This record gives sequence, C-alpha cells and structure tokens, in this order.
Amino acid sequence: FQLKLPENEPIKGYMPGSPERVALKAELERQLVNPVEVPIIIGGKEIRTENKEKMICPHDHQKVLGQYYVAGEKELLMAIDAAEAAKEEWENMPWEHRATIFLKAADLLTGKYRAKLSASCMLGQSKNPFQAEIDVICELADFLRFNTYYVQEIYKQQPNNSSGIWNRVEYRALDGFVAAITPFNFTAIGGNLATAPAMAGNTVLWKPSSTSVLSNYYVMQILIEAGLPAGVINFVPCRGVDFGKVVVSHPKMAGFHFTGSTSVFNNIWNQVGGNIDKYVTYPRLVGETGGKDFIFAHESADIEALTCAIVLGSFEYQGQKCSAASRAYIPESLWSDLKRRLEKEIGKIKMGDVRDFKNLVNAVIDQKSFRNIQSYLDYVRESKDADIIIGGGSDDSVGYFVEPTIILAKTPTFKTMVEEIFGPVMTIYVYPNDKLEETLKECDTATTYGLTGSVFAQDRAAIIKMAKALDHAAGNFYINDKPTGAVVGQQPFGGSRGSGTNDKAGSAINLYRWMSQRTIKETF
Ligand code: NAD
Ligand code: ALA
Repeated sequence: FQLKLPENEPIKGYMPGSPERVALKAELERQLVNPVEVPIIIGGKEIRTENKEKMICPHDHQKVLGQYYVAGEKELLMAIDAAEAAKEEWENMPWEHRATIFLKAADLLTGKYRAKLSASCMLGQSKNPFQAEIDVICELADFLRFNTYYVQEIYKQQPNNSSGIWNRVEYRALDGFVAAITPFNFTAIGGNLATAPAMAGNTVLWKPSSTSVLSNYYVMQILIEAGLPAGVINFVPCRGVDFGKVVVSHPKMAGFHFTGSTSVFNNIWNQVGGNIDKYVTYPRLVGETGGKDFIFAHESADIEALTCAIVLGSFEYQGQKCSAASRAYIPESLWSDLKRRLEKEIGKIKMGDVRDFKNLVNAVIDQKSFRNIQSYLDYVRESKDADIIIGGGSDDSVGYFVEPTIILAKTPTFKTMVEEIFGPVMTIYVYPNDKLEETLKECDTATTYGLTGSVFAQDRAAIIKMAKALDHAAGNFYINDKPTGAVVGQQPFGGSRGSGTNDKAGSAINLYRWMSQRTIKETF
C-alpha cells in the first residue's frame, strides 16, 4: 500500500446537454420537493431532540429543504463520551485501513453522490453549479486524497540511528478528542476540518454551521458509507454558544480545528485561556479566520487581467469567500479605463435563482448577513468620504439578494476599505502614481488581517517591490491573478495576523497539528 501524489479532481463544465447537467437539474428539483430530516449522529446512532430548526434556500426563503435536530448540552456530552470510547480502536487501527475509508469517501462523492452533494450546496448555500462543483466535489475530494497522501509521507519520517541505538518516532493521535467548528461558506472546509484530525487517529466532534447543515450532513453520510467506524466523527449541529460552553471547556479537548470569523475564534481562544489549568494536555488551536483581501495594481498592470480579477475575485459566490477581494488600490493613470471596463463587465452579471445556470451571482446566506451588508451600504450613502459607483441595490422580498457593488473611497482608511463585510462589495481607492510606496504601506497596515492578496504589474521590478512591501499582508499571495480559488496540493491555504494560525489547510503542516509525537530511544 503505497500512495502516489494524487491528481486534482477534474472540474466538470455542466455544459448544456452534458450528463452531469441533466443529473444536477433533476436532483435540484427532487430536493426541493423532498424535505429532509437531519439527525444528530453520535457514536453511529441517529439522535432526534425536541429542538428543530428549518433549513431554507437563501435564494427563496419560503422554500424549505427540511429540518435539522439541534444538539444541546446532554447530546454534546454524549458525543464527547462517544469520541472517547471510539478513540483506542481507531488510533490503533493500522494506517492503511484508516486511509482506505477516506479514499473511498472521495470516490463516492465524485461518483454516485456528485449531483446530490452539488444540489444540496447550491440550494442550501446559494452557490451556482460551478461554485458548488469546486467546493463540495473537487476541493473536498482533493482534501481527502491529498491529506491521505501527506499522512502517509509524514509517518515515514524517522530519525537517524547509531550503533547499538534504535531511535524511532511514533506519530500518535492527540491525548483527547478534537473539536471541529466549521463555517457556512465552504462544505469542503467543513469536511476537511473534521477529517484531517481523524486521519491522524483522532476522534472528533463536528459542529457544522447552522446555515449549511444539509450538504455537511450528506458528507457525513458518505463517510459512514465509506466505512467510518461509529464515534470517530460525531455530527452535532448545535448553537455555537452551547458548543463553546460544553465542549471547549472540557478537560479532554486536545485540539480545536476552526474556520470562521476572527471574533468567534478570539472568543474561543479566550475561553481556552480561561480554562487552561483544566486540560489534560494543551489544546492545539488551529484557526482560519476572517480576511480583508486586497488587489493592488501598479501602473504597468494588464488592465484586462485586472478587470477580470476584480469582477471574479470580488463577486463570485457573492463575495462570501474568506479569500474574496474587497479592497483595491488603483493608480490614477489606470482608473478611467478600469472604471469603464468594470461598468461594462458588472453590467453583464446575472443574479437570481440557483437553478438558472446563467446566474453568476445568487443570494447571500441569510437575513443577518443581508442586513449587515445593507448597513455598510447605508453608511456609504451617508458618508462624504465615499460613493457607491456601481450597484448598491438589495432586495430580500424573495431571497437575500445584494447587487455586485463598487464603492469609490476618497481615503485608504475608509470603513469599507478596512472592515470585512462578507458580501459582494468591493471598495476602490485611487492613488496618485507617484505615491506607490506610501500606498503599499497603507495596504499593509490598514487592516488587522493577512489572508489573501493580489498584485498586478508587468514591470518585474515593481512586482518584486510589491511582493516585498506586502510580505506579511497575505498568507496566499497572487501575482497577476485573482486572490481566490486556491487549489489543494497547489496553493496550501491560510493566512496569519488576524486571519488565523496559518496552518495551511490541505498540507502536511496542518496534519502535523493533529499528531503528538513520542520519541523512543532503545539501546540494544
Ligand atoms: P462564524 O464565525 O459566524 O461561524 C463559524 C462557526 O462558528 C459556525 O459553525 C458557528 O455556528 C460557530 N460559532 C458561532 N459562535 C460561536 C461561539 N460563541 N462558540 C463556538 N462556535 C461558535 O463564521 P461564518 O459566518 O460561518 O463564516 C464566515 C467567516 O468565516 C468570515 O469571517 C470568513 O472570512 C471566515 N472564513 C475563513 C476562512 C479561512 O480559511 N480563513 C474560510 C472560510 C471562512
Ligand atoms: N480556498 C478558497 C479560496 O482560495 C477559500 O478561494
């Protein structure tokens, strides 16, 4: 059993008449008329509580996809017991046996469950077919296959020996269970946060976001069908505060795998700090958090590539990617041409129901997000320091729709240049051509984040200067490309500063965090 470096799962095109398009269209209609009851899954058993929540379609909030059962304190404690009970057998299972489960899951999700998963992600999280395909199919399969390969390679690493001495390292799981708290916007991230620690022999409590339960549940079902033993991953949709209270403060919590906002991660970090004397072992805290991702253009930038990056980087998936571009610095010599091009390209964007595959933009995730974005747009309308120059409209009468919007800010420190909005809103600051250095400094220091960013230039010396000036401003740094769409195995993903612990999802670096090594020296 020797795995080769995998290839990325090819992205299907969903062209008119293609079999994948026909299957997906049928599945979308099927899911809309067959509401699902999503149970809590603890120790392999389905559990239903008194407390249920609806799962709705963001693009049409009257459409209900089903309901999920909400775990409370009792169920969370049961899930911890189940994780603890499953641990010994799972941890001691030979690696090859564990690996086959995740590889089989990847084949199931790219095979017979492709349409089901994509449809649930489109309807539940308001993704167009391409965005669903790259998330819950390709990226998730890549996480499962590449991480399995990386674990195999880590396990092979052993120290040197000398005469009469046998040194060895055991790559054990952590001493306790791992908590995985996952965001709404990427089901692949949910699957990765739960499975990466499990690959390394840990048992896990998986709390999906309450606004993306359905597609995450289908991933859990696939893992079970692939042979995941009971209790290895326990699926516990619940309120964040309950998870925090019961799970995060538990003495056996040995690892915390989080993706979501900076404020929630900070809150959890503080909770862990407050409980530090209680834990059996220092919990490993791995967090991928918020971003205020930039595009920075030099006067030598290719204007067509720049336009394309702003449009796709800011508005794909309604800007609800942690990596989405949401601030841009443009030299004044490029601005009038760029503005004209943006008006033309953004004018072509279609927005609406996910079942119409011509729509690039769909709805934002929920009412809270809709109102939050609106409040920023209202702030701009009342301000003298910025103007909405494209878009700005919003309508939640049917679904939570916000138009792709461009704001022109008069200062680089304007509110929407520095705060994460998490919607289809890009703010542009136009800088004098002779103020490159000052503006680069502004870009580097204006926010507390450091997730993704792009620079655009054709002048090689300018590229070098920009990359150096912004060296900690983005954990994923792009040159002449949009700052979104990192591919597992090609661009390990994560940022530092207020954007996380930079333990690069989809890389060996992340997997090491779920292993506790024992070094053994034997003299013979
Ligand atoms: P969120 O922080 O609101 O929620 C994330 C998860 O934390 C959810 O499961 C939520 O229920 C849970 N949660 C909320 N309050 C909690 C509490 N008090 N204790 C424990 N858990 C709690 O984030 P979101 O809205 O789901 O996702 C959007 C955010 O995630 C954005 O800030 C985005 O930038 C970030 N994100 C980052 C990355 C990355 O790789 N850096 C990737 C995706 C999303
Ligand atoms: N991995 C996703 C991207 O790079 C978040 O866009």
